[in-house]
This record gives sequence, structure tokens and C-alpha cells, in this order.
Amino acid sequence: MTNAGKSYNVCVFDSGLGGLSVARELRQQAPDISITYCADNAGFPYGNLLPDEIIERTSKVVSVLIAREQIDAIVIACNTASTVVMGALRSRFSLPFVGVVPAVKPAAEMTRTGTISILATPGTIERDYTRNLIEQFAGDCHVTAVACHQLAHLCEVHLSGQPVEHADIILEISPAFVEHDGSRTDTVVLGCTHYPLVLEMLERASPWPVWFINPSAAVVRRLLDVLNYQGPVKEAINSTNRACLTDSKGLDPALSAVFLREGFQNLTILSL
Ligand code: DGL
Repeated sequence: MTNAGKSYNVCVFDSGLGGLSVARELRQQAPDISITYCADNAGFPYGNLLPDEIIERTSKVVSVLIAREQIDAIVIACNTASTVVMGALRSRFSLPFVGVVPAVKPAAEMTRTGTISILATPGTIERDYTRNLIEQFAGDCHVTAVACHQLAHLCEVHLSGQPVEHADIILEISPAFVEHDGSRTDTVVLGCTHYPLVLEMLERASPWPVWFINPSAAVVRRLLDVLNYQGPVKEAINSTNRACLTDSKGLDPALSAVFLREGFQNLTILSL
């Protein structure tokens, strides 16, 4: 069966602005797909929440969203959530979900020195899911998993147009740069969707050049596959991009400006 000509509405969900890294890529690969961006900013940062709290919050948001509008698929554009909620969401809701988890496999394939690092939230670093990924795909690499306590927050600050100290970024990412048995880290997994949004700052704060792995393109390819997306219909690039937040502080002018700049014309509050 072909889905050519079908118009899709995909929800990209995160605790905050991080999912914009996936939304940007989705717009690149499929400009005719409408995006409903949803940030559970009342729960931000997820990196400090317990798994059960994340499951409860995301399930609540998803149920309110799908009662409100027609959604064809949801991307959980948050490693901290995806490493713990996918099973619960799939068993409760019938629409397709695509998650984002640390790109350990591509990193292990790409490294030349066998020394790789993962930057992620404390929650993602602690997960059995992440430990299993490392064991399964990077067993022969030297892996340094770095819990970044402030980095997602610093990304939000930067995106909202406020200054971020270069020294604070260095402090967060420097444990990822290690020398081990005469070789050094050459590949760093961006295990939080916020981080690709400040890639340039990460590059400037790096003591030596590395490959930073941003999983967004692969995640979007997976989504399009799941949707059986056949490419944009000729001449009609008719997408509507809306954003919703769970905390009314999101309607402050700086944050509203971020969404406008990212192509989301309509910003509303989702009451849970
Ligand atoms: N963007 C989220 C992730 O990918 C997490 C940020 C947070 O809420 O701590 O992990």
C-alpha cells in the first residue's frame, strides 16, 4: 500500500527545547509533515526525575495530546524519557512511537582510537538501558559516560538568547575528553537532544577535535520508515507547525520568540 499524498501530523515531544534538534531535521527531510511540538516544561529537567515520574508525566501528556488532535506518530525526542518510557507508552497507546537513545553503536563503529564518550543527563547515564547499549555495542571500546548536571539547562538559557559562560560549558564536557593507554577520545555521543543545538559551543569548548554524534537524522529516517512516508507531494508543501507547553511560563516573550524563530506560529498551553 502506498501513502503517497497523505498529509501527516507528527508530535515531537521533549521536556524542553531539546526536541527542536529533531524537529529541525524532520523539517529538512519531510517539509510537508506538520509538527506539533510539545515541551513538558513544567517537568523540566527530566534528568533529575525518577523513572516512574517520567512515565507518569509522559503518559499524561500523550493522553491529553491525542484527545486534542489527530496525531499520526510521536517522537519521544528525549533520551532521558526514551530510555525508560517506550514500553509503557506502546502498551497503553496504539499510535507509533519513535524514541531517541544514546547513539553508542554508531560511535563504536566510527571511532578510530577505540576511546569514546557519552554526554547525557544524570538520568540517562544511570539507566540500565544505557549500560546495556554500552555492553552490547561498545564492549571493545574504552567508554566514558559523563552525567552532565547543567548542560541541558545551559542550552535552554542560550536558546532563549541569554549569555552562557564558556567556562561553564568546559566544566560540563571536559570529563568526556580522556587519554587512555596512549590514545584519546575521538568520538562523543550527544546523548541528550538539547546538546546538538549548541554544537558550536561544544566544539569551541573541546580541548581537541572530536566527532560529535547527533542522532537526529537517523531518528527521522526511522520515523519516516515507520510512517511509510513516500516523500512530499509535488508542489504542495503545506505544513502547519504548532507548539504547546505544559507550564504557562513558556509564554514569556523570550521563549515565544524561540518557537517563532523555529517556525512554530502557534504556541499554546496544554493543561494536564
Ligand atoms: N532533552 C532531554 C534528553 O534528551 C533531557 C533534558 C532534561 O529534561 O533533563 O535527554
